[in-house]
Amino acid sequence: MYRCPLCQHPLVRDGQQWHCDQRHSFDIAKQGYVNLLPVQNKRSKSPGDNADMMQARRDFLNAGFYQPLSDQLNQLFIDYLGFMPTPQILDLGCGEGYYSARLHSAFNLKNQAQIWGLDISKDAIRYAAKRDKQIQFCVASAYDLPFSDQAFDGLMRIYAPSLASEIERVTRPGGWLITVQPAADHLAELKQAIYSQPQPHDETPESIQGFELIQQHKLSYEMTLDCEADRLNLLNMTPFGWKLNPEQKQALSHSLVKVKADFLICVQQKNQ
Ligand SMILES: C[S@@+](CC[C@H](N)C(=O)[O-])C[C@H]1O[C@@H](n2cnc3c(N)ncnc32)[C@H](O)[C@@H]1O
Ligand SMILES: [Zn+2]
Repeated sequence: MYRCPLCQHPLVRDGQQWHCDQRHSFDIAKQGYVNLLPVQNKRSKSPGDNADMMQARRDFLNAGFYQPLSDQLNQLFIDYLGFMPTPQILDLGCGEGYYSARLHSAFNLKNQAQIWGLDISKDAIRYAAKRDKQIQFCVASAYDLPFSDQAFDGLMRIYAPSLASEIERVTRPGGWLITVQPAADHLAELKQAIYSQPQPHDETPESIQGFELIQQHKLSYEMTLDCEADRLNLLNMTPFGWKLNPEQKQALSHSLVKVKADFLICVQQKNQ
């Protein structure tokens, strides 16, 4: 499944290393993940989200506020790929592996699936690898996927950057891409507090060449943030949080109790 990020030849596993026939080798960390991001492709020392944002998102997700989204994604993958003995599914921009781990558990109730997770943030992947040892996690860029052509039966992309041509390349013909993007009213109450004229999120599904949009639907519900820690996590995990001054943040950490979650889920299938 893996290919060398330097020469694109297949990688084979040998003990605690992956290597190619050109003698490029990549160590498997003690947590079980592999770093396949060539140093020259790193634009900053620690690319990806910063530690505070990640901690806030981890706590918010672990508290279950987005569990309805995760459940729905799991059901979609089981509907489309549950008939296969071992579907290969990639979580692209997986962060700390919340959705990847829940997808893995959902499949295990039914059949085995091999889940792969990729993110450019080493801190996020390190945490993800500790969460679920049976998922293959790697540090890599979504713009240069270290996977062979047509490696996957399914791809999941939740709020993460990607390159359409790379998605197309690593998906097998007839394979599935399920994406999540914010729908019009996502976190509307938070945006109202920040902007005088908040703009709704654009709901145009991204069209990916070589794929056909099979279904799109919204998942909308209201979250009740009972405790201050949950409210602060929400404020700290999104880019909106950066726009708040300390007084605004303090005020919202008391008042932001009811918040809308509004997601657009799109299912696309690669042409046969
Ligand atoms: C908003 S987070 C979403 C994480 C996860 N899917 C979730 O919903 O919890 C976006 C993720 O994309 C990752 N990311 C940013 N640029 C990336 C790139 N070029 N390649 C791979 N991942 C990237 C970040 O590190 C971060 O984990
Ligand atoms: Zn190589």
